[in-house]
Amino acid sequence: MKNSIHQISLVMVAIVAMCSYSLSVSAQQLKAETIDKIVKAMTLEEKCHMVLGRGMHFNDDAKFPGTAGSTFSVDRLGIPETYCADSQQGLRMNATRAWDHNDYFPTDFVASMTLASTWDREAAFKVGQGIGNEVREFGLDWILSPAMNLIRNPLCGRNHEYYSEDPYLSGTIAAGYVKGVQSEGTAACPKHFVANNQETNRNNNISQVSQRALREIYLKAFEIMVKESDPWTIMTSYNKLNGPYAVQNYELLTTIVRDEWGWKGMFVSDWNAGDDAVAAMLAGNDMLQPGQPKQYDAILEAAKSGKLPMEVLDANVKRILEYVIKTHNFKGYKYSNEPDLKAHAQVVREVGADGIVLLKNSGILPLTGKKVALFGCTSYDWISGGSGFGGTSVGHYTVSLVEGMRSAGYEVYKPLIGIYTQHLAAEEKRLFPEGRPPFSLMPPARADEKQFTAEELNAAIEGSDVAIISLGRKSGEAADRSEADFYLKEGEAQLIKAVSEAYHAKGKQVIVLLDICSPMDVASWQDQVDALVCTWQGGQESGFSVADVLSGKVNPSGKLPMTFQIKYGDAYADQFFPANVDDKTLGAMFMWGYNKDQAPKERKPEANIDYTNYEEDIYVGYRYFDSFGKPVAYPFGFGLSYTTFAYENMSVSEANGVYTVKVDVKNTGSRAGRNVVELFVAAPNSKKLNKPEKELRNYAKTKLLQPGQSETITMTVKTEDLASFNEKASAWKTDAGRYDFLICSSANDVEAKASANVKAWTKKVNNVMKPNVKLNLLKR
Ligand code: BGC
Repeated sequence: MKNSIHQISLVMVAIVAMCSYSLSVSAQQLKAETIDKIVKAMTLEEKCHMVLGRGMHFNDDAKFPGTAGSTFSVDRLGIPETYCADSQQGLRMNATRAWDHNDYFPTDFVASMTLASTWDREAAFKVGQGIGNEVREFGLDWILSPAMNLIRNPLCGRNHEYYSEDPYLSGTIAAGYVKGVQSEGTAACPKHFVANNQETNRNNNISQVSQRALREIYLKAFEIMVKESDPWTIMTSYNKLNGPYAVQNYELLTTIVRDEWGWKGMFVSDWNAGDDAVAAMLAGNDMLQPGQPKQYDAILEAAKSGKLPMEVLDANVKRILEYVIKTHNFKGYKYSNEPDLKAHAQVVREVGADGIVLLKNSGILPLTGKKVALFGCTSYDWISGGSGFGGTSVGHYTVSLVEGMRSAGYEVYKPLIGIYTQHLAAEEKRLFPEGRPPFSLMPPARADEKQFTAEELNAAIEGSDVAIISLGRKSGEAADRSEADFYLKEGEAQLIKAVSEAYHAKGKQVIVLLDICSPMDVASWQDQVDALVCTWQGGQESGFSVADVLSGKVNPSGKLPMTFQIKYGDAYADQFFPANVDDKTLGAMFMWGYNKDQAPKERKPEANIDYTNYEEDIYVGYRYFDSFGKPVAYPFGFGLSYTTFAYENMSVSEANGVYTVKVDVKNTGSRAGRNVVELFVAAPNSKKLNKPEKELRNYAKTKLLQPGQSETITMTVKTEDLASFNEKASAWKTDAGRYDFLICSSANDVEAKASANVKAWTKKVNNVMKPNVKLNLLKR
């Protein structure tokens, strides 16, 4: 009896102890100070779920239908679900929901290329802030942008989502955007890390890149962004890089980004990237989205067997929780579903106009005549952005060119509106006899140009002061453009010729608007027209932005963030790009992780499809054209204004390894305007040392300068910013010597120059990321 009482009391003690243990565990709630304890309190199964995403939320029952994913929740530990959405140009979420009469239209901001063309970090901040605010006010936490892969080739299908061919411009614009997003307490997610520069076979292609080009060009953009803006998360890319998938590459993610750059955030995979979930965890890729059952099984098994050490899995989970505690949902933010769309529309209009690049102007612009005839299908079917997940929600409005011009006080020649309305309807029937397919990653086919009779043209000339022809190019995720898309289509060439000849014969002029997603040929036909305006794709307010610039309400100040080459093939890198692959959807099966039938077929490795050798090395964009003396149609950094600027009193001084460059920029024309000041630096003996002729090291944008007004612009460059990567020594090295500091108005136009002695500087880094094939690299 005594014994059994003793036993009962022991059992009771044990029960009480267990209860209080589980109470103390469940009382444990996620907080900044308790992350380590929470990780300890999580079961192995919970950890394995935590490192996998929950997505995609495409069905109507989802909390946020049409969004990319969310993260795992553990209620007992106070870990909430957090929500992410694409994109680059605006929050991608269904604007309407079943069983709900409200609508949820986010703002369609500007294409990234447009943003980069502003050369304005403030503009990048404002756009990021607007998007970050909408993410918050619509109840989400995390935006999957900015996309910031280098523009290595004009045909990459996602160029409109990217910024520039130059890592400094890309990195600083991305940093502005990230700071804007995160100023709203929303997580940014710069992507796709890294060397993901083509869409063809995007899930399987191996980028083979020298250590030097990686360090100086592809990693550099991300390094600048990471150091300037400290994003909470980074998305790894689909491609393989010098061997393993980027998402499974320890040297890339851990050795370089975490150990060398000191970044502490969370890596997330691109959606279904890679083929080995355990390798991704080991590499330091903390979260795999959208998460697959087989990934869960593999991680669980590897954790049990010890192949995935618990401290690695714990570190992955910890970094995810560090992200979670910063989110709106964790903080219980009461969202309004009512962001200030009006204020954001104003940002779109202004940034859209500031990103427009004036390439050629006979003097016709700004437009004084009040009657305009709009030619070209794109004039009536304006493209506000690219296709794919980088776009914004389907169904949002776009201010048309017609509306924009009318609101600026122009009379739009009416008969053409009727003619094009009919033509576009007929083309729609011809191209989509069954109706348009539902959302697709591929951009829909576009109408062929309408040709005009002499009578129709004569009538248009009678009824207008000037002709405006719009040309459009649209591309997007999962497919690259083909070489033919770089050039005019036959119908476009005929239209330009016919309209220009007819208008010129009557002493009237012709303006061409390029509503394009990436550079195209202009060299072969631009002589026929009087003005050329690269409008890019400016989001929902584009019609207003374009009209603001054509009318002179806004003086154009955009500069090209990439080179316009004369012909496709002119850039050395063009040989190493899949310019003419017929199977546009090759490797675009981003969902193949779910479905074995969609897995890539075994293929005989083919250059530029299965592997791409970046043999142009560091000579990407202007670094090639400039260093090898090749002519271009329009150089990197080019853009005209309606006024003129002078650069005076340039100086460079040094203190503690920091070079301070000063220059007075004076508006010498008769209209107010802003001006971008580009600072390139040329290293001594660049040819002998196989360095680019000159490289962009800083830039600034003036305020609005009134005629006669000037502003002193100050820019700094550090000795280490001038370093090249020396593969043999595995070190960054700045060679000593006299460097030229160049104030430029484009990569081809040096406006002022000063030189300074630079001392040698060097920094050793890890000898990692070696390509495992021999590359025949271009040298000067
Ligand atoms: C794209 C990413 C995007 C993800 C989620 C992928 O197909 O490459 O940029 O963030 O889908 O939608």
